Amino acid sequence: MPDWSDRTAVMNLLSAVPVFSSLDKKHLKTLANAAAERNYNAGDVIVSEGTKGLGFYLLAEGQVAVEKAGKVVATLNSGQFFGEMALLDEQPRTANVKAASKAKCFVLSPWEFWGSVGKDPEAMRILLRETVRRLRHSPPAPED
Ligand code: CMP
Repeated sequence: MPDWSDRTAVMNLLSAVPVFSSLDKKHLKTLANAAAERNYNAGDVIVSEGTKGLGFYLLAEGQVAVEKAGKVVATLNSGQFFGEMALLDEQPRTANVKAASKAKCFVLSPWEFWGSVGKDPEAMRILLRETVRRLRHSPPAPED
């Protein structure tokens, strides 16, 4: 496992993730220094459906399950991100994201996110493509 206290490892992680790969070195370095490390145990709820929150999460180690209305709709692995939906529309979280194993995330605040990914059209295109893919694969909302 990388030594995550060495921010070069975080920078390498970021540069291997398609959403961040078009960013220049300066932005990657700024993000790697700013990203907050968070560690979870299996079963921990990382983000809760219906609650407010604007952090963008990049999974560095482990696996998480995305649950909507109590059903698992996706499993994400290291190198994948979550939390982009509430960040994009400033509405409550669309799903629970739970650690399915011990997990480590790096979290970006909205201002860090918008100052980097938000300023790079290619990064935004990749992010939105993945978000649309997720929405296409999300089960329909229950009838009111
Ligand atoms: P957000 O709504 O901020 O918080 C919950 C997150 O779960 C959401 O952002 C997405 O990152 C993720 N998510 C929601 N639906 C899906 C899905 N169908 N597939 C993968 N990830 C999803």
